[in-house]
Amino acid sequence: MRATVQFPKKQKSMCGNSTWVRDDYGCVARSFLIPLLVAVSVALVGCSSSTDDPTAGFSAQQIEGREIAQSRGCHSCHGDRGQGGVGPAWQGLAGSVIELDDGSEVVADTEYLRRAIVDPAADIRAGYNIKMPFAEFEADEVNAMITYIEGLQE
Ligand code: HEC
Repeated sequence: MRATVQFPKKQKSMCGNSTWVRDDYGCVARSFLIPLLVAVSVALVGCSSSTDDPTAGFSAQQIEGREIAQSRGCHSCHGDRGQGGVGPAWQGLAGSVIELDDGSEVVADTEYLRRAIVDPAADIRAGYNIKMPFAEFEADEVNAMITYIEGLQE
């Protein structure tokens, strides 16, 4: 009878003792690992909801388009956020009126963007002397990149 009431007493002495003995592992884990896990998850949530994420608010197709543009080198000229560089900016491009090198003005609609990607020599944007290289793509890769570019606001 008496032996059963000693069980809680033994538990208490294990957790009250702060030395690094093997039996104390459960107590050490509780006092160090749990606050650490809380801190790590707070940091992760903070990162994913931050405006620094270039894919924030993107659909799966837009994320795919961004990955294709990244892996096929488009970002090296158009910027990893479509901010532009050697090539024109993609941010705010879709639907805007742009000037071509023959002096004409066109709306950068979906078909214009498609032509710019699959046949870069067809329409040359005014003010750009560097030629955009030609690369071959599957139709769905082109669609994904267009959806991505159309999602880039200024
Ligand atoms: C070597 C640099 C370079 C690379 C790499 C490049 N581009 Fe371009 N891109 C340009 C330049 C310069 C222009 C403007 C001249 C023109 O209209 O052809 C342009 C124009 C465009 C346009 C039309 C933009 C406008 O404002 O008229 C689109 C869309 C585009 N590129 C998409 C892409 C995609 C998608 C890729 C990757 C497959 C890519 N580019 C890779 C340099 C590049």
